[in-house]
Amino acid sequence: MKKIIALLPGDGIGPEVTEQSKKILETVAKKFGHTFTFKIGLIGAVAIDKIRDPYPTETGKLCASSDAILFGAIGDPKYDNDPKATIRPEQGLLKMRKDLGLYANIRPIFTFKKLLSSSPLKKEIIKDTDFIVIRELIGGIYFGKRGRNKSKTSAFDTSEYSKNEIKRVANYAFNLAKKRKKRLTVVDKANVLETSRLWRETIQGMEKKFSNITINYMFVDNASMQIIKRPGEFDVIVTENMFGDILTDEASVITGSLGMLPSASIGEKTALYEPIHGSYPKAAGKNTANPIGSILSAAMMLEYSFGLKHESEAIYKAVENVINQGFGTKDLSLNKTVGTKELGEKIKQAI
Ligand code: IPM
Ligand code: MG
Repeated sequence: MKKIIALLPGDGIGPEVTEQSKKILETVAKKFGHTFTFKIGLIGAVAIDKIRDPYPTETGKLCASSDAILFGAIGDPKYDNDPKATIRPEQGLLKMRKDLGLYANIRPIFTFKKLLSSSPLKKEIIKDTDFIVIRELIGGIYFGKRGRNKSKTSAFDTSEYSKNEIKRVANYAFNLAKKRKKRLTVVDKANVLETSRLWRETIQGMEKKFSNITINYMFVDNASMQIIKRPGEFDVIVTENMFGDILTDEASVITGSLGMLPSASIGEKTALYEPIHGSYPKAAGKNTANPIGSILSAAMMLEYSFGLKHESEAIYKAVENVINQGFGTKDLSLNKTVGTKELGEKIKQAI
């Protein structure tokens, strides 16, 4: 199989982790007889520094014409600490998601046996965790009207959803639940928010079509508690953009480290694969960042975009194998702490 992959390293630890996932993809290509061609594009703070645009037109063209996108991370403290900055790195990521119509962000939350004690939560509670959060990615408060009043002493952000936007992401979640344990949890705040009431109403209208799925509606505050109290009881969760952002950082604690979690964003055009962690600027250039979130995102790419399930599983198995040998970056607190590159190398050898 011949594929073109847009490689967008981005900011902070992005370049280091994508260097490892690229290496893993090349290893898989060699072993299984595929050809992956990588084309590098600029995004985020590095793109602002170079050409004053967090998502340059050229990067947009590259993404649209590639078979899949492997993205690192975005964000730089010089913008985080400057609330007045009008051009921000995150705008690049949001524009890319929007332009490509990537409405469903798939975030699997699962544990590796060896890492159960790396989580601050009790082993007995987290041991059976295996659920997927489907986060709506191109609507809601992230993309609504926002601004300040004339005197700039008050500000507003608005959240808007249409029935169609809710339907397409819910449809994805229902179909996923069908292939799994057939349980779907809809997370909202329907006791307060009008958009949440539309979510509930719309999804209730779809229940008949998916009558073999057990649906549970849960308020987001309660969900944030249940996810760490009894994570084993969830199967597929579907929720709006901002709730999904917050709940998945919380859920990552179950797996032992935020650095472990991959994600796929799918929709109308080229799909995007990225770890759920951010740019972690403090660790940038230190060879300490965990590359597994990015490596497992590459594994998701093989399965979701290219249909290479066997190759994808080879990556998961290699990661598990290396972790079982006790190797990990320092966030995993295993007995053999290694650097980003060394961990990538171990996984490569295991493949
Ligand atoms: C994520 C990140 C992004 C988001 C940021 C970097 C804009 O936190 O992918 O979860 O909020 O979507
Ligand atoms: Mg986030």
